[in-house]
Amino acid sequence: MAGEPLLKVQGVETYYGNIRALAGVDISVDKGEIVSLIGANGAGKSTLMMTICGSPQARVGSVIFDGEDITRLPTHLIARKRIAQSPEGRRIFPRMTVFENLQMGAGLDNLKFFNEDVEKIFTLFPRLKERQSQRGGTLSGGEQQMLSIGRALMARPKLLLLDEPSLGLAPLIVKGIFAAIKKLNQEEGLTVFLVEQNAFAALKLSDRAYVMVNGKVTMSGSGKELLANPEVRAAYLEGGRH
Ligand SMILES: Nc1ncnc2c1ncn2[C@@H]1O[C@H](COP(=O)(O)OP(=O)(O)OP(=O)(O)O)[C@@H](O)[C@H]1O
Ligand SMILES: [Mg+2]
Repeated sequence: MAGEPLLKVQGVETYYGNIRALAGVDISVDKGEIVSLIGANGAGKSTLMMTICGSPQARVGSVIFDGEDITRLPTHLIARKRIAQSPEGRRIFPRMTVFENLQMGAGLDNLKFFNEDVEKIFTLFPRLKERQSQRGGTLSGGEQQMLSIGRALMARPKLLLLDEPSLGLAPLIVKGIFAAIKKLNQEEGLTVFLVEQNAFAALKLSDRAYVMVNGKVTMSGSGKELLANPEVRAAYLEGGRH
């Protein structure tokens, strides 16, 4: 499984008006890997994740998924290629129940798997099963994050994009969510690209990682290498969230 590129981002530049948020980014994610992207506020991490999903689109460079150039595809067609996203801020539907949120995540193509997929998500996050009739907006932050991931999984993704799943959550809850991501990767071979400010948790989880500064990748390596790297330690780990 590993060793084959599922996602390749090549020389990508993304702009907001005249402002260049991504200044020539190259990353790759192989099938079966967990790869993370770490960096400070405003580095461009979410912009990269959104560029992969086609909104905003890259002005320069290309995004190749499963051997196909998706740079200029509209977002709904990119989603059909089985790239699913849990965006920054979770963006669940607050007035819908947990169960309805999961329904929203399942594409029409996946309806025959619906019961099976919901059961899988309830096994992964038993809390969601207990709360299935509760409105999304009344869940705790950790439960909302579980729901956001669960909803993305309902699309049966080949690539799962996670933008700051740890944001605002207590360390113990983060541990549980990261353990679930690891489980999906190990048991289902799910490929994951993770954006995180919580560098310690992300690097521990990941096979490989990239560091982004001002819209550029400045470092890359295995999770272990970057955890031990003095520059990474000084900038992202010392005194940071552990
Ligand atoms: N919609 C937008 N319009 C204009 N500029 C934007 C927009 N979204 C982001 N930016 C700018 O692009 C740059 C990168 O932002 P981005 O949200 O990608 O960073 P980030 O690494 O995800 O940060 P954080 O860790 O705070 O989530 C920032 O300078 C930001 O101000
Ligand atoms: Mg962000």
